[in-house]
Amino acid sequence: MARLGVALSLSSLVLVVLLGAGLPRPAAAAATQVFLSKLPKALVVAASAKHGEVLHAGENTVTVTWSLNSTEPAGADAAFKSVKVKLCYAPASRKDRGWRKASDDLHKDKACQFKVTALPYAAGGGGGRFDYVVARDVPTASYFVRAYAVDASGTEVAYGQTSPDAAFDVAGITGIHASLKVAAGVFSTFSIAALAFFFVVEKRKKDK
Ligand SMILES: *[C@@H]1O[C@H](CO)[C@@H](O)[C@H](O)[C@H]1NC(C)=O
Repeated sequence: MARLGVALSLSSLVLVVLLGAGLPRPAAAAATQVFLSKLPKALVVAASAKHGEVLHAGENTVTVTWSLNSTEPAGADAAFKSVKVKLCYAPASRKDRGWRKASDDLHKDKACQFKVTALPYAAGGGGGRFDYVVARDVPTASYFVRAYAVDASGTEVAYGQTSPDAAFDVAGITGIHASLKVAAGVFSTFSIAALAFFFVVEKRKKDK
């Protein structure tokens, strides 16, 4: 009887855990909705890569610089705490690709997927620079650079970008080739093994 009780309570525990896993988690505090079109374009952003230049992922470096536009009034950057820099697909590389779609709502934007860096903002419009080695997972495409000024709560409050029409190119690492080769190797080994197996099976049937 005691055993049955233990088993029952154990199984109800498992049930509770299973149910709990399936329940929606309480939503995290909803991040503030930010629209790019509402942000002041207060940052001047430049990238060392020229229009049409080809950078090799995992090898080449692009230097990104940013500063407060000198036409901004004094104190315009009072709330800036850090700068978040992103690599964005240029319009030509977004065409017909829903998964790279740009959105005015920054939480829905898929055009600027690759993080370049996030650094504290040098108060007083001092600006900053960062040498970015193109990450190995950046695919072949044309890109421009965007920088967001972020406030203490982590919300984007201003931005700047290099011209999307003067994009540079990245030649991605075609890692897929390596895995395809492995897959092809596995499957051809498997088919030879299968051939040998059925040959033996057939032969045995005949011999009977
Ligand atoms: C700085 O801002 C002014 C006014 O918005 C704009 O005309 C100018 O192009 C900006 N400068 C740079 C270098 O982006």
